[in-house]
Amino acid sequence: MTSTVITGIAELVTNDEHLEGADHSEHLGRLSDAAIIVQDGLIAWVGPASQAPAADSRQDVGGRSVIPGFVDSHSHLVFAGDRSAEFAARMTGVTYDGGGIANSVNATRAASDDELRALVGVRIEEMRAQGTTTVEIKSGYGLSVEDEARSLRIAAEFTSETTFLGAHVVPPEFVDRRAEYVALVIGEMLSACAPLARWIDVFCEPRSAHAFTEDEAREVLSAGRDAGLGLRVHGNQLGPGPGVRLAVEMGAASVDHCTFLSEEDLEALVAASDTTVATLLPGAEFSTRSRYPDARRLLDAGVSVALATDCNPGTCYSSSMPFVLALAVREMGMTPAEAVRAATVGSAKSLRRNDIGVLRPGNRADLAVLDAPSYLHLSYRPGVPIARALEERGRHGS
Ligand code: NIG
Ligand code: FE
Repeated sequence: MTSTVITGIAELVTNDEHLEGADHSEHLGRLSDAAIIVQDGLIAWVGPASQAPAADSRQDVGGRSVIPGFVDSHSHLVFAGDRSAEFAARMTGVTYDGGGIANSVNATRAASDDELRALVGVRIEEMRAQGTTTVEIKSGYGLSVEDEARSLRIAAEFTSETTFLGAHVVPPEFVDRRAEYVALVIGEMLSACAPLARWIDVFCEPRSAHAFTEDEAREVLSAGRDAGLGLRVHGNQLGPGPGVRLAVEMGAASVDHCTFLSEEDLEALVAASDTTVATLLPGAEFSTRSRYPDARRLLDAGVSVALATDCNPGTCYSSSMPFVLALAVREMGMTPAEAVRAATVGSAKSLRRNDIGVLRPGNRADLAVLDAPSYLHLSYRPGVPIARALEERGRHGS
């Protein structure tokens, strides 16, 4: 076992609320002039550089700042094809309704395994280059037994956080046979996909004729839970709807989008804040020119909040967590510190993980390094590539 001491950290954000000697304002557990000892991919020690124990080797980050790597807890990376024309049309006033998903389904079905694998690999590299160290990946552009299972097999080559989203939309060949498609999703498709997935998700959205109703979504989630999967929901994205309350009722780990929330939805999320995280995806509102979710209202009420990219070909083809943070601060009323926490420890909670998102001994040494003196620069310098996943010398990927 060899150990590495990481030094030259001008400012370290740990998110560890118990770290001795740290600045605990805004719950960031901040240290200046810090060091971290990494052993076998795990954190062995965190503290002031002047007190660091000896290690086998040293890696100096040259006076930069370090934060927990971003946890992008919502993405749809397994797809082929190009829908940029759909984006251009939206920018001239066309409304998003999920109908374009069928285009990605056609292109994804037509792609070879190697093509899909290469596309996912490029997107993951983009993410790491912007500071993301954990990513959740959904299926949902296959929508047949074979193509959903294939999407999950490829996703599993890159992450353990795989999500079965056979209930993304009703595919065109089932359009007049919705009940038959739901039966397929909870029957043969779930049997093929459950062993390849950790989670199940459903697009529950009354504003989209392509998505699923409350009753259909409940059926899908119940079947997924019976098959041993954790639950996630796409809800309240395009308008008010039942998604949030259904997610809370079923004990989902996360309900994602949460753009249109009633007082009842808010109260349900507050009551469920230990169980269900509200994951906000402002890149989708940016790219569909929609109103942003009101993060301030959620945080002030006591809801658990996460941030993620939703990287997908339709509503947000951005893999950038720093971009999401900048939107959250500029457009959604979050402080820079709240945004960093939501994109790390908050999104880790939405994946029910406590080995990531907080830098403390025993946790994974998943770190992002910033070409900046402070985490504040993440939202202060939008569009500037200051964040990247720290590659520990001698260790490959994660
Ligand atoms: O999270 N809303 C449903 N699913 C994706 C968009 C998928 C697509 O348009 O390709 C989302 O926004
Ligand atoms: Fe999504």
